[in-house]
Amino acid sequence: MKKVITYGTYDLLHQGHINLLRRAKELGDYLIVGVTSDSFDRRRGKLNVKNNVLERVEAVKATGFADKVIIEDYVGQKIDDIQRYGVDIFAIGSDWEGQFDYLNEYCKVVYLPRTEGISSTLLRAEADGRHRFGVVGTGRIARRFIPESRVVSGVEVTSVYHPDKADAEAFAAEFGLESSFDDYDAFLASVDAVYVASPHLTHYNYSRRALEAGRHVLCEIPFVLSADEARELYALADRNGVVLLEASKTAHCPGFMRLVTMVKSGVIGDVVDVRASLSKMVKPPIRELDAQQAGGSIMEHGPLTLMSVIKLLGVNYSAVSFRSRMQDGVDIFTKGEIEYPHATASVTTGIGVKTEGNLVVSGTLGYVYVPAPWWLTDYFEVRYEDQTRNKKYFYGYDGDGLRYEIQEFVSMIVNGRQDSFRLTRNESVVIASILEQYRRHDHVTEM
Ligand code: CTP
Repeated sequence: MKKVITYGTYDLLHQGHINLLRRAKELGDYLIVGVTSDSFDRRRGKLNVKNNVLERVEAVKATGFADKVIIEDYVGQKIDDIQRYGVDIFAIGSDWEGQFDYLNEYCKVVYLPRTEGISSTLLRAEADGRHRFGVVGTGRIARRFIPESRVVSGVEVTSVYHPDKADAEAFAAEFGLESSFDDYDAFLASVDAVYVASPHLTHYNYSRRALEAGRHVLCEIPFVLSADEARELYALADRNGVVLLEASKTAHCPGFMRLVTMVKSGVIGDVVDVRASLSKMVKPPIRELDAQQAGGSIMEHGPLTLMSVIKLLGVNYSAVSFRSRMQDGVDIFTKGEIEYPHATASVTTGIGVKTEGNLVVSGTLGYVYVPAPWWLTDYFEVRYEDQTRNKKYFYGYDGDGLRYEIQEFVSMIVNGRQDSFRLTRNESVVIASILEQYRRHDHVTEM
């Protein structure tokens, strides 16, 4: 009996898949089809797969060509499968020509003709629709947004806004955008959604005007600098039926989300302390060191460090206090203590003081350690008194990591979802409220 094996995601099963499976089956007597697991797809950067693994397996079975369906879950599994099942032929579409030649050592490799004009990517884009995005601002983070947005289906960045016309034009030319604007209303009229990546103090106004114009808003951190402004903007988004999401990058990254769910599941017992630290040295002249532009380490790094505390210990803290080292009117280093009825937490932020940027979550059974840079979590360790029980966990973190928040933002738009469990509105309002207290100088001691 001649055994054939083939692999794929088989999302939104289409004629191209059916043709491929038929051709693969015709090569032998028995066809094994490997369907990727959801987590394997995410790990290899396929973030928009619509059907879950059960649905995809069912769809493959329904074609009637597969004698056996298996799940593909790791790099290198193909070699294991070929040996385990005694496979004679490995078959795959011609879009992979040459890429699986290394399997010739184990069996015959056949590239089958691919069906032109159809793919899951195309079908997903049709299902999600095309969303015209505009970027507000042309700074460092805005520049990172463009390449990241290109890997998320349904997103097309078409315009950029900057009050300086030449600046906007240069950005549009560099990234091949359709248009550039120095008139904000005209800019809003040209898009469905905006990414606000302008200086901190302008976030509120740009977001409000976009929401008033019925545009979805993804706003960089620090989102806004008071709880009232945050509440007002979320209410405005509701009234106008549009999505508003704080772009808290780390909250959307796969490793960090996994850390939160593991801790919530009790792997380290009750959480008693969270320590999050983030420092990035900067040199003048730079916005971060400018008191007039809401500079300072806590405005820069408070949103992510506070986010980790709030995600792990909740929104019901009992007290907050800060000590800051000041320089020219901005804090170049701040230590914030957040007290809970049964737990403690601290955030340490620096732009003129360097410190180890790690995250440590201590519990009654053990602790989680995330080495610097924890805010780009791709790896963490769960550690116990009995070191033989320690475990290391690794996750994908692709590119600059903005793709994860963009993907969630688009999913909220497509599904008409107003809130995200990754960072709820309530959590976002509480972060804004803590930053507001700092700006009001409540419970702040300078040193
Ligand atoms: N395939 C094909 N013809 C197409 C699309 C896919 O022959 N038009 C083949 C692929 O070459 C592969 C198998 O179908 O052997 C499974 O491919 P998969 O990656 O699941 O499908 P795509 O439509 O290519 O998915 P995506 O757009 O997400 O890459």
